[in-house]
Order: sequence, then C-alpha cells, then structure tokens
Amino acid sequence: MPSHDHPAIDQYAVIGNPIAHSKSPFLHTAFAAQCQQVLHYRAILAPVDQFATTLKQFISQGGRGANITLPFKLDAFQACTELTARARAAGAVNTLQFDGDTIKGDNTDGFGLVRDITDNAGVTLRNRRILLLGAGGAARGALLPLMECHPSELVIANRTEEKAQQLASDFGKSGNISYNSFADLQGPFDIIINATSSSINQQRPPVPASVYQPTSLAYDMMYGEHPTPFLQHAATQHAQTRNGWGMLVEQAAEAFYIWRGVRPDTSRFLQPAD
Ligand code: ATR
Repeated sequence: MPSHDHPAIDQYAVIGNPIAHSKSPFLHTAFAAQCQQVLHYRAILAPVDQFATTLKQFISQGGRGANITLPFKLDAFQACTELTARARAAGAVNTLQFDGDTIKGDNTDGFGLVRDITDNAGVTLRNRRILLLGAGGAARGALLPLMECHPSELVIANRTEEKAQQLASDFGKSGNISYNSFADLQGPFDIIINATSSSINQQRPPVPASVYQPTSLAYDMMYGEHPTPFLQHAATQHAQTRNGWGMLVEQAAEAFYIWRGVRPDTSRFLQPAD
C-alpha cells in the first residue's frame, strides 16, 4: 500500500523562484496526457536560500524527478550524486532524477536549443559558422550540444571579453572555437544565437549589422509576446528570426523522455510563440 509520504502517482515538479509564470506544469501535464503516462507535475516556489531543504522535502514526499529553473541551476548541480557529461560541461543542472539515495543531474537546455534549430526550424548546423552571444550560464550550457553538431566555426562574443576568452578556452578541445569583441566580428554568420540576458531589460547585444545575411538565422533563447530588441534588429537586416519558445518545449520534452522513456510529439506545442 502506498503511504501518505509515497503517493501512488509519480510526482514531478519544477522548482524555481519566481515560479508562478512557469510553462513547465502545462507542458509536462500535456505530454503525460499525450503519452498516456500517469503522473502529477506541479510548480514549487523555493525560498532563494532554501533550495536544498525544498528539494529534500520534495524527494521525501515521493518526488521522482524535477526541473530546475532560475536561480537554482547551480545549487542543483551541487546537490547531485551523479552528473551526465552534458550537465558537467554546462556546469549547471535543469533536470533531476531521484532513485533511492541517488540524485542524477542532467542538462537538457542545449539539447533543446539544437533540436529546435535543426528539427523545428530546419536549419543545419554542420559546417556552418555560428556566432554565440554571451558567456554566462546559458551560453555555457549551449556549447557542447552545438559543437557536437560539427559547425565549421563557432565564435563567442561577450560584453566582458575575458569571460568569452575563458569559455572558448574551456571548450577548445571540442572543435574550432574562438572569441572576438563585438566591434571586431567578421561576418556574415549562418546562425547567430543570443544567449545573453539582455532581452530581459529590453536591450540587445551590440552586434554589427555585418554579422547578418538574408539566409542567417537569428535565434534568441528568450521568448515573449513581442520580438526581442535583438530579433527586431536582426529583422531589419533581413535575417530569419526565431525566439526561444521551441527551445523551452524541446528541453521539457527531453526531460520527459529521461524520466518516462517515451518522447512526446512536440509539434503541436510549437505554435504559441512562433
Ligand atoms: P544566464 O544564466 O542567463 O546566462 P548570466 O550567467 O548572468 O545569466 O549571464 C548573462 C550574460 O548576458 C552575460 O554574458 C552578460 O554579459 P557580461 O558577461 O558582460 O555580464 C550578458 N548580458 C547581460 N546584459 C547584457 C546587455 N545589455 N548587453 C550585452 N550582454 C549582456
């Protein structure tokens, strides 16, 4: 008989702060219905200084897995007893799996980005020139999955140049990676990815117009009702544009696959922010 602490229905959650606007409960509940998986998924608001306690509590209540969002992806990394190669490369964890005393950490963000670009937008990364804007957590998480697609070149540009240099050096063994200042970028690039958090403040990284050509894909990891300043600028240069909604859907689908062994059909979830 399942006890009160270990309910019959498998429990999953997204943990973050803030969390009220998270789309994860909607996506995972819809995936479960589509894949005929019986589970319960909820949003948990953790106090900023109490991630570990919140996580422990969720596990003790029968939690089988969790998604982790801002600002806890580094705390989650620390909490793991096992890490996948892509979580280790990202230095951050967005997906947790619990099994007895084992806490396994993965990172599906970069996978989600690549899948959205290649499968949903239909843009090849192999042998292409990629410009990655930013050198924070989002950029780091994207690098290994991007390099696994074998671009001809990946250039990192960041406001604080030393951080771009460090990132290029950390991933130097994975392929042709370099860094550049915004002003010295030598375009055009095939894919330009905004992994900075500039869109939050309605700003854009200062990329010169020469990075674009009409066949370029400008991709912003952020999404919202309106095009971000980065995407607005790219559109004025006649580049194709895409926001990060599909990335969000695909990282969620990959987490669902890790937990349940079945892959949801994401096609019907891609519409809202296109
Ligand atoms: P995240 O987890 O979202 O990557 P982060 O680790 O704090 O957040 O990194 C934020 C990134 O966005 C950094 O690369 C930051 O540049 P700096 O390293 O110079 O701080 C970049 N960023 C934030 N606001 C920006 C802006 N207005 N213009 C350009 N880059 C910006």
